[in-house]
Amino acid sequence: MAKELDVMDKIVSLCKRRGFVFPGSEIYGGFAGTYDLGHYGVMLRRNIVDCWVNAMTRDHDNIAQLDSSIFTAGKVWIASGHVGGFSDPLVVCKNCHGKHRADHLLEFVGVTADEKMSEKEINKLFDAHRNELHCPTCGEKNFGPVVAKNLLATSSLGMFEEGDEQVYLRGETAQGIYINYKNVLDSGAYHLPFGIAQVGKAFRNEISPRQFLFRKREFEQMEMQYFVDPKEALKIYEDWKRERLEYYDRLGIKKENLRFKQHENLVFYAKDAWDIQYNFPFGWSELEGIHYRGNYDLSQHQKFSGIDLSYYNDDTKERFIPHVIETSVGVDRTMLMVLADAYCEDEMNGDKRVVMKFDPQVAPIKIAVFPLLRNKPELVARAREVYTGLKKEFGAVMFDDNGNIGKRYRRQDEIGTPFCVTVDFDSLEKGDVTVRDRDTGKQERVAMSDFALYFTGKLKS
Ligand code: GAP
Repeated sequence: MAKELDVMDKIVSLCKRRGFVFPGSEIYGGFAGTYDLGHYGVMLRRNIVDCWVNAMTRDHDNIAQLDSSIFTAGKVWIASGHVGGFSDPLVVCKNCHGKHRADHLLEFVGVTADEKMSEKEINKLFDAHRNELHCPTCGEKNFGPVVAKNLLATSSLGMFEEGDEQVYLRGETAQGIYINYKNVLDSGAYHLPFGIAQVGKAFRNEISPRQFLFRKREFEQMEMQYFVDPKEALKIYEDWKRERLEYYDRLGIKKENLRFKQHENLVFYAKDAWDIQYNFPFGWSELEGIHYRGNYDLSQHQKFSGIDLSYYNDDTKERFIPHVIETSVGVDRTMLMVLADAYCEDEMNGDKRVVMKFDPQVAPIKIAVFPLLRNKPELVARAREVYTGLKKEFGAVMFDDNGNIGKRYRRQDEIGTPFCVTVDFDSLEKGDVTVRDRDTGKQERVAMSDFALYFTGKLKS
């Protein structure tokens, strides 16, 4: 993979040019921390989500799906600890009014701020290094005090009178799972251990959304909470860590770009926490968090709601509050990883090209079908027939007769289509076509009658 610093710029520009991702509210000058997905972005996202859902629910009979509301009773976020303890340390540059995270500025000069530090403690640390800290926007050394800024986004939904309970947009999908844990347990045939998996939007008032899809204010999470007997928790935690790393291998991500990192400082709810990090173009950073949350969340919701959330084990005759192993990854962050891992510049037949080497499972378009010439009705008609047949079988198939064959190949390379099928004059006589492989450029003749077998073998993993 090309690893220069400007790879991110190239990915951002390709995403816009080819209709994967557009900046949010662009015609109004943008809206920080938001991005909109174009046609191929929507398809890529859907494939990523499908892979995750399949890995959770097809590979595990004991994982249920859930789609909980974005809006919840305000008390959910008080009970979870997010209202009191979910904040990032904000500093504002007095010169240019740029807003930055104090811990990120300290990191630039090699100082680590513990996530558990109080506002007073981080101010002390910041003051000790004030002379070394420049504003990344204007270069001045003129910061105000550090303020703990809560990350929850507030809303006025359903609030009409002064004194109405404050409402929040969810800061993680996990809380929707905890407050439905009893519903799932009572309505399904589940016994410990069992999991609840959910994909959905989350919102955070990030101080400095950055690095494209990496840190957004509106983003999507794929989270699974696995409810376990505390006696089995540590073993199951290790199993999930191993399984989640193997999953990325199956998704076609290069092994050398993934690694584990244990958290040194644990957030308020965690007993142990590991990240799967990816080697993004800007360096190793968190892709997915795998957390051992103990019984913190269920205990808190039991306490605040007054509803018994304990579990009775019929075999051991024990009653306890289950512990939770969580796997949590962003859809957007996964998309950025998939884009970065696939991005490639190479030369084919003497021409430089950009090619997205997506694994076929996530490629937005699996096969593109071309008539050799667009002004020959008999070729176009046969190519349309081939296209319709393949579309029925494989779904994400595209008909392309725009520009010459070379241009069509470049376009399909940039959207990462694994196979291009060209219908030519021989096809009319012999009933075969040319199939071109995206990565090698190798072309072979394939009989139309063999398509189903040929592409099933290549596309389905
Ligand atoms: N329920 C646990 C939780 O939310 P987290 O580490 O704050 O933990 C989990 O977030 C995952 O969600 C991250 O590993 C990342 O993939 C994604 N994520 C978090 N904040 C994000 C943001 N601002 N933009 C995009 N993705 C984000």
